[in-house]
Amino acid sequence: MSQYLSDHVHLGDDLTSVVILDQTLLPNRVEYLTLREPEEMFEAIRLLRVRGAPAIGICAGYCLAALAQQRKDLKPDEFRQELHRLAQYLNASRPTAVNLSWALNRLGKRAHAMPDADPPAAAAALREEAIAIHQEDIAMCRAISEHGLALIHDGDGVLTHCNAGPLATSQYGTALGPLLLGKERGMNFQVFADETRPLLQGARLTSYELHNAGIDVTLICDNMASMVMKNGWINACFVGCDRVAANGDAANKIGTSGVAILAKHYGIPFYVLGPTSTIDLSCPAGDDIQIELRDPEEIKSKFYAQPMAPAGVKCYNPAFDVTDHSLIAGIVTEKGVCRPPYTQSLAALFA
Ligand code: MRU
Repeated sequence: MSQYLSDHVHLGDDLTSVVILDQTLLPNRVEYLTLREPEEMFEAIRLLRVRGAPAIGICAGYCLAALAQQRKDLKPDEFRQELHRLAQYLNASRPTAVNLSWALNRLGKRAHAMPDADPPAAAAALREEAIAIHQEDIAMCRAISEHGLALIHDGDGVLTHCNAGPLATSQYGTALGPLLLGKERGMNFQVFADETRPLLQGARLTSYELHNAGIDVTLICDNMASMVMKNGWINACFVGCDRVAANGDAANKIGTSGVAILAKHYGIPFYVLGPTSTIDLSCPAGDDIQIELRDPEEIKSKFYAQPMAPAGVKCYNPAFDVTDHSLIAGIVTEKGVCRPPYTQSLAALFA
């Protein structure tokens, strides 16, 4: 896999910055950004320069570690207060993907576990924790890819929505992982990628990643999914997730629940793939998941040479929706495939 696909978020050599591939510029430009200030980090997550639930978590971990290193000469109590403040600040950048708070809490717990450490030692420990989150994600994606690959056959048609590939994670990805792994093993799939309005992650990122990997990918508008299913071209749907509730309801990119409803109609298995870091057992059901609302301009004018709606028209722009657990054939994690009833199978992952 090419370098920038698998190493698009990392700590700067000076240990006080974070380097990211700016995903908003893809597929036309491959440019890296160096983030030093908390505001730059917040903005990079908020504007989807770095996006995808696991990648947001990895990035947030590195951001807090870099900010801790910058502040290592503070007095111990000031250092800890600053850490707390900065973690809260970064956590407010996006609400839906649980990996953001999960990663920041993990670093917070690490700092808490060493109350007598001086700031340089605490900053080094946070760096170690951030690197561990990244390394673990690589291993989790690889395991998810293996479990997902066992659900499909050579030659199958697979439909995916949004982007849950290496750019959204570390390596391989979740929903795209089985396809990339299968390709490495000489298998061929016909992949249909929903373009994913309004921010076009499917067009800009998924078709880019799969095409670069030599996978047969066909880009479709979101409203064409029913047609390709009806044509008999789809054997399975693979999507990622941003937060999975204890009952198996799964939040993912807006439009995902519509794909699941269509898949049910056509008798096509619909799988959600994600690491256990995306499962939130403290959240009982999908209704408890906060859905991010974004700027209406993403619908009306972004990507268009001129506005495509009248000035002042009302818009509703939720970034995610929740797929009901009854529509999901399996939730594929690094530990294996959870099947209904999800309340039991998901809880067993953490037992
Ligand atoms: O708004 P985005 O681009 O961050 O949304 C991304 C998704 O919805 C992905 O499917 C999800 O985060 C899983 S990524 C492995």
